[in-house]
Amino acid sequence: MKLINGLKLLERLASKQNKMTIQISPISPSFGVQISAIDLKKDLDESTHTQLRALLSEYAVLVFPNQFLGPAELMKAGEIFGTLMPQQLQKYILPDFPLVGCNSTKDLPIKNGKLQVRGENYHTDHSNSLCPPRATALSAVKIPSSGGDTQFVDVRQAFDDLPSKLQEKIVHLHSLHVHESSRSPRTFTKLSEEDLAKIPNVIQPLVIRHPHSKRPALYLNTGRMEGIEEMNKDEGFALINSLYEHSIQSKFEYRHRWSEGDFVIWDNRSVMHQANADYNPEEFRYLYRIMIEGDQLEAFFP
Ligand code: SIN
Repeated sequence: MKLINGLKLLERLASKQNKMTIQISPISPSFGVQISAIDLKKDLDESTHTQLRALLSEYAVLVFPNQFLGPAELMKAGEIFGTLMPQQLQKYILPDFPLVGCNSTKDLPIKNGKLQVRGENYHTDHSNSLCPPRATALSAVKIPSSGGDTQFVDVRQAFDDLPSKLQEKIVHLHSLHVHESSRSPRTFTKLSEEDLAKIPNVIQPLVIRHPHSKRPALYLNTGRMEGIEEMNKDEGFALINSLYEHSIQSKFEYRHRWSEGDFVIWDNRSVMHQANADYNPEEFRYLYRIMIEGDQLEAFFP
């Protein structure tokens, strides 16, 4: 009788606290963590939400395996990290869940036997918005038998690794981000005049400061940057390209090999990401995509 009462008391305490112990393990030597022993379909307590937001600010990429989130569940998981924002490409949204986009091979053209994937070449999402999304997340529904990984590079480490003279120079620089740069290495979805007119252009700092971790990071998007405001065109583009080449070195990279059911969220102010078109175009790849609202970017001044 005493024991049963004791167990009941423990159960009551556990449910009152409603605390979870999540498991966190590294996925690369310096950024990104995998989180297990968690079910994002369940209602999680506020302290777990706070812990997950802090992990995203610090580690920049969070991988949650075996979640198998449908669109409504994905929206609920995304809301842990902030307010969901509309997808820029309204062509690729789910009609019943307009805040959820989809990356589907069925929407992609094939040129010379190769799929023309969106997001090939490292970038940070919607850098031409005054308030770019703080985070983007994907939920893997169907993955090809090989290939189709998403790569991430840590642009905080890339900045930290620059010679201090170069850091001192670039913290004062800015770039105009447009829908498609005149020297873009990738082509973007063509937009009607009307849709293009709705898409903003904005001057962003070349080095930003993360609002929570306070760490500096390079802010680069070669597809959208129209040179450097304080430099002539050729010098500006040369600087952008050299910072880009520096940032995409494998020492700054985590490469995510997808499994169906994975939910992955990343902080667009700390990493760039890129998609890969290296899989059989006859195979089906399908992921749901959401974005979390961000704030205006802060320049980093040491
Ligand atoms: C993206 O850039 O959002 C796409 C990433 C991917 O499909 O691997």
